[in-house]
Amino acid sequence: MAEPRLDTRTIRIGLIGAGMAGQAHAFGYRNASMADALRGVRVERTHVVDAFAPLAQDVAERYGFERWGTSVDELLADPAIDAVSVALPNNQHLDVLTKVLASGKHVLTEKPLGLDAAQAARLAGLAAAPGRAGAVDAVGFSYRRLPGLAALRAAVAEGEIGRMYHFEATYYCHHAADPADPFTWRFDQASSGGGALIDIGLHAIDAVEFVVGAITEVTGARFATYISERTDRAGVVHRVTNDDAAALLLVAGDGATGTLQASRVAHSTPNSLAIRVFGERGMVSFTTEELNSFVIHQAGGDPRFDGPRRVITGPLHGAYVDVSSFRSRGVGTGYGEAFVAQVQAFLGCILDGTRSTTDFAAAAQTMRVLDAATRSAASGRPALLGADADADADVAQVTA
Ligand SMILES: NC(=O)c1ccc[n+]([C@@H]2O[C@H](COP(=O)([O-])OP(=O)(O)OC[C@H]3O[C@@H](n4cnc5c(N)ncnc54)[C@H](O)[C@@H]3O)[C@@H](O)[C@H]2O)c1
Repeated sequence: MAEPRLDTRTIRIGLIGAGMAGQAHAFGYRNASMADALRGVRVERTHVVDAFAPLAQDVAERYGFERWGTSVDELLADPAIDAVSVALPNNQHLDVLTKVLASGKHVLTEKPLGLDAAQAARLAGLAAAPGRAGAVDAVGFSYRRLPGLAALRAAVAEGEIGRMYHFEATYYCHHAADPADPFTWRFDQASSGGGALIDIGLHAIDAVEFVVGAITEVTGARFATYISERTDRAGVVHRVTNDDAAALLLVAGDGATGTLQASRVAHSTPNSLAIRVFGERGMVSFTTEELNSFVIHQAGGDPRFDGPRRVITGPLHGAYVDVSSFRSRGVGTGYGEAFVAQVQAFLGCILDGTRSTTDFAAAAQTMRVLDAATRSAASGRPALLGADADADADVAQVTA
């Protein structure tokens, strides 16, 4: 087993799996140095591997990895790579993570940790082996990093709603609501380890454990499959062998009771994680549908104003300060993507030889509005824009 590297000034990254989640990891590594704590640290995107070679190449080119390939073993044999992200179909996790752990490299893997609790225990045991001392192992429960969810945890941990009584957690998606949505590994029990509950419900389980505390009891559970056959992209019909939806009754933390539902066939909710906790002195709630805020109700006080408050997130909440493109409150997670789109549009104009839709001429109009506002305020009269602006300016000057 190789010694874990101690040099943290340059961290060289290998990415295994370049599908949907792998690309989100690539996006994360590319923007990681926004964080103050990473100032001066070079995060080098070194090698990306996917079984489908054209995808590996495409992701390497789009996200700035130096190399791409199809061999996991080749990536792991490179001593220059310090840390590895794994984003593979669930049934690959045990084998590939076993190799990654043996390599001594730091690892961030996608959930679930293997197909079941036995595989997870095995992997956790390997990760804790003495030979890996100093090597990081981490699992991608990314929703914890959202400032609104982090704020809920902080509020309940600081006792803002007192003892937690009961809670509800839901993760609803519609990605499989249409029976025509194609069969993939996600619908096959052997490849996935489960359906909606393992695929998305695991994030709701993690949200409960993050906010309320460890789940100590599952007192009831129902799994349901509503669409029992699906056709893959090659036209082959398959039986669906895992759950489209699941409902659980839980006990968590200091005896709080709660419900958890996960569904991949929930029309009207493309991708929505939510949690609400009721306590002895109030309530907190968060939903990804309102990503940049959370709700808190602290009962008592003036009964005329007793009720829930929506708090817009800012630098005091979670990882906000490290990911927000402006470090001020209200800009929020998601705002940075507007700047990515803006840079993309700008680069597109350079490449296509086209004008920007927000060129200087367009922006000059916004300044004419400001100018007209100043003139109108000074004159107390309407200020005209466009062709009549000059005449209006003359009028304003005379009036002044
Ligand atoms: N945290 C999240 O929000 C989130 C979101 C989506 C998926 N996931 C997790 O990420 C993992 C991947 O899901 P996905 O949606 O990206 O799947 P995907 O099907 O889009 O991508 C998986 C990729 O792995 C490649 N692959 C399969 N076997 C391989 C192997 N042995 N070696 C190299 N490449 C191989 C496939 O070619 C494919 O490109 C799953 O475990 C899933 O649970 C997490």
